[in-house]
Amino acid sequence: MLNDDQIGLLLQSARAVQSRAVAPYSQYKVGAALMAATGRIYTGMNIENATYSAVHAENLALYVALMTGETEFLGLVVVTNDANMPYPCGSCRQELSHHCKPDFGIIGANLTQRREQKTLGELLPDLFGADNLKT
Ligand code: THU
Ligand code: ZN
Repeated sequence: MLNDDQIGLLLQSARAVQSRAVAPYSQYKVGAALMAATGRIYTGMNIENATYSAVHAENLALYVALMTGETEFLGLVVVTNDANMPYPCGSCRQELSHHCKPDFGIIGANLTQRREQKTLGELLPDLFGADNLKT
């Protein structure tokens, strides 16, 4: 879970990186900021291409953090321009679940408002995870 100070920093970072989103097909710009247990912040934005596939903002932030050697994470803020302020999609939740504990905090926001913090455990209950592959 994230405290108010951490949420403030992540909102600022996610809103800043959202402007770098590459979304010529959907026009739907997403920015994400992830806080590692070290306190460092990693950001990502969606990047679309002409096959209509895209790197999701949350995944890019996670991959950059993993690439630098981070292993533990506190939470993530995801920003869109949309009044619904969605939480990450199912695929991103699944990806996050491989690296983050059930109390990992997630917040959906736009440029002026934010939703309540929910945990990954709340957003992805009864997940299919590494334990399911143990024989
Ligand atoms: N998108 C994300 O970046 N994260 C999500 O979890 C939901 C969707 C992007 C992908 C695509 O570029 C655009 O939003 C519309 O789906
Ligand atoms: Zn996603």
